[in-house]
Amino acid sequence: MKLFNVYPLNNIEIVKAQDSTVWDADGNKYLDLYGGHAVISIGHTHPHYVRRLTEQLNKVGFYSNSVIISQQIELAEKLGNLSNKPDYQLFLCNSGAEANENALKLASFYNKRKKIIAFKGAFHGRTSLAVSATDNPKIIAPVNETGNVTFLPFNDEQALEEAFKSFGNEISSVIIEGIQGVGGIWEASKSFLQKIRSLCDQYDAVYIADSVQCGYGRTGQFYAHDYAGVEADIYSMAKGMGNGFPVGGISISPKFKPWYGELGTTFGGNHLACAAALAVLEVMQQDDLMKNAEEIGNYLIKELNQIPQITEIRGRGLMIGIELSEEYANVKKDLLFKHRIFTGEAKPNVIRLLPALNITKVHADQFLTALKAELIK
Ligand SMILES: Cc1ncc(COP(=O)(O)O)c(C=O)c1O
Repeated sequence: MKLFNVYPLNNIEIVKAQDSTVWDADGNKYLDLYGGHAVISIGHTHPHYVRRLTEQLNKVGFYSNSVIISQQIELAEKLGNLSNKPDYQLFLCNSGAEANENALKLASFYNKRKKIIAFKGAFHGRTSLAVSATDNPKIIAPVNETGNVTFLPFNDEQALEEAFKSFGNEISSVIIEGIQGVGGIWEASKSFLQKIRSLCDQYDAVYIADSVQCGYGRTGQFYAHDYAGVEADIYSMAKGMGNGFPVGGISISPKFKPWYGELGTTFGGNHLACAAALAVLEVMQQDDLMKNAEEIGNYLIKELNQIPQITEIRGRGLMIGIELSEEYANVKKDLLFKHRIFTGEAKPNVIRLLPALNITKVHADQFLTALKAELIK
């Protein structure tokens, strides 16, 4: 059997990883500012994380949601406190797409409506509803075309108001990333998020904050939406939540009352997943990683702003987009193969930084030096 070939690969195999350093099979060392796609939040093979997972694995790795899993309760409590949503409720699943799928479904159970508002440039995952709310026709299979999703221009308050005016009583939910990731690091404006909040209140629609990439402390606040001073009805999360262990979840406002069987998943919230997620929150708290994300992010953004060859710098904290012109199309590849620095990208020519939340100024300087070497010739 061979692999179903859907991923264009870099010809690199990573065999070892520690903190923000990874090594390939030939012994080459790389700086990881990509975090395996925003997943590595507390650094690779963090000792506390390894210890906690190993201890859990030696006790019990998995049992189903048919028994008490006290680690889930502990996780809900910690997550509620750190995200400043102690009265919200946690449903655990396995990925970002699944988190959004459940959020959209829960909204529809709640208000018995079908229509979804999503935005141009949005990415919400590849399962059926999540992909239908994703603005990329190429990855939407005919079976996913429900006709229930309306895409509006991002940050366009007037378009949003008009949509609500014309069919507001049919709108089940509005789903939005606080900062669009795949779309190219575009921030939702404060007033746009506030407008979503007020229209959702007015029409009893559900505000879903897709925090899969921009959440979990990455911007310096727990959810990127926090900076607008609004509370969403449901926050979806995954990626950084398990530092590589597949775990996702939704944080659900107290106005939703659950019933048995409403949502479910075999693997969601298993013992190992909870141990991984708890280890992440413990390290985030102990080492004040949200503050570090803000500080190093501010430093990077300030320094990047000194480089005139860059077209635009976008983002917040450690979710940074560096827009380059066509003539610098090879910079991302050169950073990887000449300077051995992993970064992310967004089409057509944005370098995306999504590192672990505990990167240091030394890491930031290493990147800035390499970037300048490629841009200033
Ligand atoms: C904003 C956002 N939502 C959802 C997803 C889907 O997450 P997953 O790949 O874990 O299903 C992603 C993945 O990149 C994402 O960036």
